[in-house]
Amino acid sequence: MKRKILVTSALPYANGPLHLGHLVEYTQTDIWVRYQRLRGNDCIYVCADDAHGTPIMLRAQSEGITPEELVSRMHGEHLRDFTAFGISFDVYHSTHSPENFTISQEIYRRLRNREHIAVREIEQAYDPVAGIFLPDRFIRGTCPSCGAPDQYGDNCEACGATYSPTDLLNPVSAVSGAVPERRPAEHYFFRLSDFGEFLKQWIHNGVLQPEMANKLDEWFQTGLSDWDISRDAPYFGIPIPDAPGKYFYVWLDALPGYMAATRNWCDTHGANFDDYWGPDASADVYHFIGKDIIYFHALFWPAMLKGAGFRLPTGIFAHGFMTVNGSKMSKSRGTSITAAQYLQQLEPEFLRYYFASKLNSRVEDIDLSLEDFFQKGNGDLVGKIVNLAARAAGFIHKHFAGQLAPSLGEDAGLYEKLSERREEIGTAFESREYGRAIREILNIADQANAYVDARAPWLLAKDADQRTTLHQVCTVTLNCFRLLATLLSPVVPRLAERSMAFLQCTLDWDALETPLLGHAIQVYDHLLQRMEKAGVETLIQIPAAIPADTMAGKKASEPTVAPDISIGEFSRVDLRIARILSAEAVEGAEKLLRLQLDIGESRPRIVFAGIKNAYTPENLAGRLTVMVANLSPRKMRFGISEGMVLAAGGAEGGLFLLSPDSGAEPGMKVG
Ligand code: MSP
Ligand code: ZN
Repeated sequence: MKRKILVTSALPYANGPLHLGHLVEYTQTDIWVRYQRLRGNDCIYVCADDAHGTPIMLRAQSEGITPEELVSRMHGEHLRDFTAFGISFDVYHSTHSPENFTISQEIYRRLRNREHIAVREIEQAYDPVAGIFLPDRFIRGTCPSCGAPDQYGDNCEACGATYSPTDLLNPVSAVSGAVPERRPAEHYFFRLSDFGEFLKQWIHNGVLQPEMANKLDEWFQTGLSDWDISRDAPYFGIPIPDAPGKYFYVWLDALPGYMAATRNWCDTHGANFDDYWGPDASADVYHFIGKDIIYFHALFWPAMLKGAGFRLPTGIFAHGFMTVNGSKMSKSRGTSITAAQYLQQLEPEFLRYYFASKLNSRVEDIDLSLEDFFQKGNGDLVGKIVNLAARAAGFIHKHFAGQLAPSLGEDAGLYEKLSERREEIGTAFESREYGRAIREILNIADQANAYVDARAPWLLAKDADQRTTLHQVCTVTLNCFRLLATLLSPVVPRLAERSMAFLQCTLDWDALETPLLGHAIQVYDHLLQRMEKAGVETLIQIPAAIPADTMAGKKASEPTVAPDISIGEFSRVDLRIARILSAEAVEGAEKLLRLQLDIGESRPRIVFAGIKNAYTPENLAGRLTVMVANLSPRKMRFGISEGMVLAAGGAEGGLFLLSPDSGAEPGMKVG
């Protein structure tokens, strides 16, 4: 029976470009969606930009544009990248949309009418210079439990403690540098505890992966606290009904963004919204998300839906995080390769195939290792699968006028045996065991290639008496290729399209039942070219992939024009001439060098700089450069970094350490 399915991926924030980590999720979801469509199910895939919140407001301010302008530009960029990667959304909407204003406010009103909203006054950090209340992430200070300097307002990266920003010692605003004040304000709360009993049961009824349900149990032990859902003006968001100057906290309208996108699709396709979200909806709803946002999706969201009288999700599928060559990538440190940078170098098919080969149904992190990536793309995808078509197509055109044989002959059993494995592979896709699906597909490819080796069509071609056999062997081979291309079509949709043009047929699951016979095909043209090693290497060299301990690494991914600052603000940066006394590689860090810098103080400063790809340590000792001497020390995995060296760098690669003209001395002030 045909299933009616609604699928979502998390809504990416509109304040930055998509990176390869994001693509783990959109690729995972898209493969599942394409598989459902391949099996004839009625499946729509909706998503949107998550457009609201303080970071977006501040970023727009710093670019001197309105948040609406920023959001609309980012929407264009995100959609461009998604499209290039073959992500097949039925609609890519925005939380800054009329549909979302309506739905978010409606959910809120229903919750309020059922007394799930409480109002009380709380004190909050306020930046008197910027004139805004400060989210935890925008306050920095000394960790109250271990004393590490320059930590975020919500948790300490050094010791892992979580606390409230009021506990921070010596707090400063990351927006203006001002000391935050405490200011009282009325806040609106969603009473999550009203749903405690319901949630306790719901998370164990098969909607979540077992490891996620267990994780949530831990949270229950500490009790569910009310959720602060309001923010004060100025805030870029959706106004709270009957509460002048108050806006929904970004997450409150982000989750309904799934519904808003569905509403938009329904309205443009004459479909019924209630079939998807009404209390008696006929469709199944699946959310694909990253492990970091489970709390929002498995606690707040079902409670909101339940409280407001909507249906609940059928399944929530969390995936792990992507690492690059074994180290964590992070937005705030700028260690990410953007989707756009990838596309300048390589075909999207390789990344989709690679992710598929690594993904399973559990919440495990997946590593992008460039060696492995190269091997899987060129060795497996091109070498074993695409190449199979090339091995047979030439003979079909040379000897048989581009026409497949009318029968598979004595090797019909091989095709039958291999194509019978499709149900198993289908089950693997359905249960998100893509790695297993790929292994089984490769196993089919290996058998098909072994068959070609054994039948040696190049020898058959030399013997005029073997024409019929040659014709049949090549037809069996191309049918195996059609089988592989069909099974892989959810993973590599572009390759699938080119294969359809080549085979002159659609890639249909049910059509695999009968082989393609007596059918005209196109001349073989490269369906997928091997990757050049240089392309893969350029990707690793991209400076944005370097920890932002040099300014260059950070700025490269954000070519924004910084707002004007006064000479006073500039003079707060203590720039000094530094002599590099020694430079050494850091064990376990791909790109870092540990520098000892003499700036005329009694002992050298230690700075970890992400310049290893650009400089050999031995060549650095003795040379002069420029450092920021009053950057708060930062605790890193390898030790404390006491400043930063300055280097220039662009998105195209290259990293250039600054140095003074000769005559400058260590410790001299720069400015
Ligand atoms: N805006 C929220 C989601 C709101 S959903 C109502 C958000 N946005 S995000 O841009 O930070 O992340 C979007 C998705 O990408 C999340 O599911 C997140 O887990 C995922 N990923 C972001 N970085 C990732 C990796 N490095 N690796 C894998 N997935 C990652 O969260
Ligand atoms: Zn700490």
